Amino acid sequence: MTDYQLHEHDVLVIGAGGAGLRAAIEASAMGVKVACVCKSLLGKAHTVMAEGGMAAALANVDDRDNWMVHFTDTMRGGQYLNNWRMAELHAKEAPARVRELEQWGAVFDRTKQGRILQRNFGGHRYPRLAHVGDRTGLEMIRTLQDHGIHRGIDFFMECTTIELLTDGGRVAGAVGYDRERGQFHAWLARAVVIATGGVGKAFKITSNSWEYTGDGQSLAYRVGADLMDMEFVQFHPTGMVWPPSVRGILVTEGVRGEGGRLLNNAGKRFMFDDIPDLYKNQVAKDVEEGWRYVIGDKNANRPPELLTRDHVARCINREVKEGRGSPHGGVFLDIAWIKGRQDANGKAIDSHYIERKLPSMYHQFKQLADIDITAVAMEVGPTTHYIMGGIKVDGDSQMSTTPGLFAAGEAAAGLHGANRLGGNSLSDLIVFGKRAGEYAAKFARDKGAVTLDQNQVQSAIRKALAPLERGASGENPYQVMYDLQATMQDLVGIVRVESEMARAIEEIAKLRKRAAGVGSGGDRTYNPGWHTCVDLENLLTVAESIARCAIERKESRGAQFREDYPAKDAEWGKYNLVTRRNADGSMKVEKAALTPMRDDLKKLVEEYK
Ligand code: FUM
Repeated sequence: MTDYQLHEHDVLVIGAGGAGLRAAIEASAMGVKVACVCKSLLGKAHTVMAEGGMAAALANVDDRDNWMVHFTDTMRGGQYLNNWRMAELHAKEAPARVRELEQWGAVFDRTKQGRILQRNFGGHRYPRLAHVGDRTGLEMIRTLQDHGIHRGIDFFMECTTIELLTDGGRVAGAVGYDRERGQFHAWLARAVVIATGGVGKAFKITSNSWEYTGDGQSLAYRVGADLMDMEFVQFHPTGMVWPPSVRGILVTEGVRGEGGRLLNNAGKRFMFDDIPDLYKNQVAKDVEEGWRYVIGDKNANRPPELLTRDHVARCINREVKEGRGSPHGGVFLDIAWIKGRQDANGKAIDSHYIERKLPSMYHQFKQLADIDITAVAMEVGPTTHYIMGGIKVDGDSQMSTTPGLFAAGEAAAGLHGANRLGGNSLSDLIVFGKRAGEYAAKFARDKGAVTLDQNQVQSAIRKALAPLERGASGENPYQVMYDLQATMQDLVGIVRVESEMARAIEEIAKLRKRAAGVGSGGDRTYNPGWHTCVDLENLLTVAESIARCAIERKESRGAQFREDYPAKDAEWGKYNLVTRRNADGSMKVEKAALTPMRDDLKKLVEEYK
């Protein structure tokens, strides 16, 4: 028996990014006792990597915008695999959630009339992203923390959750340990919200930091919850490519929203060469029209750099593969060219304008790459940024297929379908974070208490301690993680093909065997090697699910591009793919028919086509 501390709450929230904080705030507002556990320090979530803004049809910059256009943009961006109920709720509720953030102290950029300013982003018909320069996610987190910290929520920072607890088919809390001391904890709770974010660390090049190892998806899967849409991994088109130590760090889409253009090594604006059918009538004919769009001409169409992320990433990939890339394997992103042009107010644009609009990008490139983006082009390339798939949830309540287990934000699936529009993640977090918190609190109030199963706690602890017992004689966990990242990057990346994915699945099986023998020297205190051993099971689970779903979906759609099936197939447009755990622990992937869309929403989709 290993000692652990026991905590009892009504609702346990795992994760403290935008979705987790918003869920915890809502649950505590409903009067229940809430705990929030996060793997890192408060304020460090991947939410801060959604820099350019949060999408909400406030219609502050273009009064033609409304929830219906936002809904149809989101559905088109997701190639109609979205959970349409979530897309509807998101489009309808995002404006109220953004205004609420403002009331709680978020300091947005402003229009001349003093309203929240909104900028253009890929796939959004109108300027829709409420923003704070290029630090919007950071401002969201700051605001939610300031608002949440005084509400009596019990925060447990730097704690890794290792297993969910169950009680008669219902979730009953979680087990974890604090990363500093290695002290174990059990949180008994009547409802649990998973808001642990994504899986970026399953790939070599990613905008995600060390925390994003698919923990929530894997924890949920292990207690029998379904995962959905795991083949859809978003490669953000623009991450840093040089120097090597910063490869993958995000370069916000806000750069393109402010007029940044993509160029190959011949100086050609290659995005004009390939416009997808779905957007044929929405893209500018030439540079001038594109610029007019950027500065708010309502009659102009968007520049091709503001097409959806899946498409832009593939175009960049093509330029690099065909030898037209930049010296370090990317392409050029040029914002300096807007100097001398007139802004929306008729004033000539200078370097200060760029610095003011994109302060983080300016400093990021200056400090990390010694480049002045107001003078020269950046080098950028695709980086693993986001997973559209995740835990399958009910659109209204956010409850998973396991009673008492809720999920919100990136850990949940459905809203974004096959491809997420930039800026829809931040609004997703606050819309569905709120809903998850509310429904989890209701569940906790309505259902009876849960009981603690000591065996479950001790078996989770034993599993976590096994690598320490093997000590330095076990294989180095970093090597296994590195090999997995290389496998996923090389074989299940932006362009996919059956034979490579089949190899990936074989590799993952071998890596699983190796992971069972990893070990770490040292003890439970301050031991990142041990933490990595614990992360491996989660990484391998999400990696296997991604590879299995990607091989199963025999078509190209949204973020999934198959070289061997390059076209979209209408038949595949009728299904999501669901990942389930067999009784023997093996994984299966099954087709699940989409729920037919409500007639009024179907009409909207037709109308706005
Ligand atoms: O490019 C960005 O600022 C990222 C935004 C997002 O992922 O929503």
